[in-house]
Amino acid sequence: MAQADTPSSRTRRQAPLRHFLTLSDFTPEELNTVVARATALKEQCRRGERHQPLVGRTLAMVFELSSTRTRVSFQVGMHQLGGHALSLSPNDTHLGRGEPVEDTAKVLSEMVDAVMIRTFEHDTVERFADAATVPVINGMTSRFHPCQLLADVQTFNEYRGDIAGATVAFIGDGYNMCNSFIEAAGLFDFRLRIATPVDHAPDPRMLPAPNVEVVGSPAEAVRDADLVVTDVWSSMGHEGEEADRQASFDGYQVSPSLMDQAGPDALFMHCLPAHRGEEISADMLDDPRSVAWAEAGNRLHSQKALLEFLLA
Ligand code: CP
Repeated sequence: MAQADTPSSRTRRQAPLRHFLTLSDFTPEELNTVVARATALKEQCRRGERHQPLVGRTLAMVFELSSTRTRVSFQVGMHQLGGHALSLSPNDTHLGRGEPVEDTAKVLSEMVDAVMIRTFEHDTVERFADAATVPVINGMTSRFHPCQLLADVQTFNEYRGDIAGATVAFIGDGYNMCNSFIEAAGLFDFRLRIATPVDHAPDPRMLPAPNVEVVGSPAEAVRDADLVVTDVWSSMGHEGEEADRQASFDGYQVSPSLMDQAGPDALFMHCLPAHRGEEISADMLDDPRSVAWAEAGNRLHSQKALLEFLLA
């Protein structure tokens, strides 16, 4: 039977459909536009000026995994832009009872203007986006965390100027944050040195990559670096592996003494939540070189810029 030709989300939308599943979905120019816009929106917000281009628009936030920063920043961001966000966990929807991802994507597309989705399997986000007729944003999967990178680049640019040409050291687990830093190095044109234990090396599908070098130790990675980054040793999905992982990551803790081996103006970032005494020393977040709280705050502004780019 022929498909009924009725008005749908496809005809409601005027702009071409774009998704943000990885940084590579955008060109370098688009990424830099979003990051610059994030700082402009932040300044506008701090001046108390209202900017509400998304009145009447709704973002659905689908969370298979826990979140503080992603949930709050998207929800507050939609509110500040004049729109509305609703948060859905598997227990709130039929996704948790076996309704196919594709069916859920099609139904949500009929009712909301964009979807942000956090799932363990990256394939789930891709299937969701393939079936959706509204923009889909990756709010983190086991492979990528592109929204975090927007905030990280915004934060570096605000403190030190354009990240292009800078040297970034990633210390720790070659997991989703590492993958997104690998993509970012080519797209934002910075050098990336990665130090991981051999049994937690970066995903071989990600390498070789432009501007990226895997080195043998944290000390080698941070030498003359302008930015040092780490992430937890046991991400969501690695529950039960904590003890083995702590042994593997011995020597990979970021501390003020490791930062002393970086460049004289080096910054420290962590996407949070942090485990003090594991991937960072107890005092690292209080060190003056840490900008982790500003980085977390910039999730709000960079995602507002992303929502505006995709929807307004
Ligand atoms: N960094 C980050 O994505 O934090 P949440 O897991 O709290 O969203």
